[in-house]
Amino acid sequence: MTTQTIKKNLTVKEAIESRHSIRKFEQETITKEELTEIFELVRLTPSAWNLQPWRFHVITDNQLKEKLQEAAYGQKQVTSAPAVVLVVSDMEDVIAHLSETVHPGLSPERQQEEVANLSSFFSGMSVEERGQWGLTQTNIALGFLLTAIQGLGFASVPMLGFDHEKVKELLSLPEHIKFGAMVPFGRQASEGYEHHRFPLDKIVKYH
Ligand SMILES: Cc1cc2nc3c(=O)[nH]c(=O)nc-3n(C[C@H](O)[C@H](O)[C@H](O)COP(=O)(O)O)c2cc1C
Repeated sequence: MTTQTIKKNLTVKEAIESRHSIRKFEQETITKEELTEIFELVRLTPSAWNLQPWRFHVITDNQLKEKLQEAAYGQKQVTSAPAVVLVVSDMEDVIAHLSETVHPGLSPERQQEEVANLSSFFSGMSVEERGQWGLTQTNIALGFLLTAIQGLGFASVPMLGFDHEKVKELLSLPEHIKFGAMVPFGRQASEGYEHHRFPLDKIVKYH
């Protein structure tokens, strides 16, 4: 696909229907403005109690991408992409700053009450359980990210096939974080596979 034919600002329907995992990208830098446009959309992802446990690391440095590719068992899409987003979930950071998640429109008393309730709920869980809980929320942001990337004229491939411990080490991430996915993305330079999905009568039941 050449730059001339790139369609931007797709409708939600167009973005979802045209998204395929793409593993070969044009060698074209993604600008800070483009990245900001994507993350301004992803920022609006909903989450339970509005806790927003997702954090994003954008990797454009070639040497680091090579190391990530090694950690991803040599999957070549990592260095093909001009940018790689690591979607991580950090519930311990959420819990350390609970007051930031409470809606500022609430009265100070209600805010304190909310923080106390959330604090008590999560203190009954282990770090691992909280991590898994946060990941269920972070995966919603992963869906928004893939759709936003596509809708703004880029392509991507979500990946979980990598050595998580090695990637934590490469980016100096704390042990407790969980990975939503590694997402290489850029302008697409190859076609994806035809969609292969279950029919509606397998996945949808009407009651
Ligand atoms: C969480 C997740 C992890 C994935 N991990 C990998 C991966 O490590 N390598 C890869 O090439 N594709 C990976 N994929 C891509 C899937 O194989 C792909 O989404 C699926 O086959 C459907 O194809 P489509 O994305 O083209 O519609 C992953 C997808 C998801 C959602």
